[in-house]
Amino acid sequence: MRNRKALASMLASAALVAGAVTLLAMPWSNDMARGRAVAPQTMMLLPPPDTLAIGRQRIMDRIEADGRLSNPIATSPEVLKQGRALFDTHCAVCHGADGGGGGPVGKYFSGIPNLSEPAIQGYSDGLIYSIIREGGFNMPGYAETLSPAERWALVHMIRTFRQP
Ligand code: HEC
Repeated sequence: MRNRKALASMLASAALVAGAVTLLAMPWSNDMARGRAVAPQTMMLLPPPDTLAIGRQRIMDRIEADGRLSNPIATSPEVLKQGRALFDTHCAVCHGADGGGGGPVGKYFSGIPNLSEPAIQGYSDGLIYSIIREGGFNMPGYAETLSPAERWALVHMIRTFRQP
């Protein structure tokens, strides 16, 4: 009788342990550890394709932005000042303060364009905006670093390089 009781309690404990192990092995118990983790300070996740942001503009690629986006911000001395400060912080290292391509890091890249060139000045505002957001072959993108308003301020600022 005593042995039976001991056996029953042993079986009960074994069943409990087995149950707990089974539960832990279930796929949802470690869901959070297996997500698309992004290590701190590396990058932000961009929204998946075709995501619609509430109250924000849909993200367009270069070609679409070229034809459809226009600068929603009017130019003003303040906007140009903001653009100048952003250019000096983010762009001048490569493009040079005058946009000519002579920045200290620019010499390590071949083919840095002179931003005053008619070819570049002929780009639409939407295309320049999109270039700033996406970057290029060697140029970094600023989708995470600059807000849309900052990118549009830079578009205005780049126009100041235009040769008369
Ligand atoms: C690390 C160096 C670097 C930085 C920083 C950089 N660029 Fe560039 N940029 C380039 C290079 C190199 C190119 C030539 C195209 C390419 O290889 O991506 C270029 C091209 C461009 C073009 C012309 C693109 C084309 O397709 O003709 C524009 C406009 C431009 N940059 C604007 C900017 C602005 C505005 C910033 C700052 C927000 C910036 N760049 C920051 C290196 C840089």
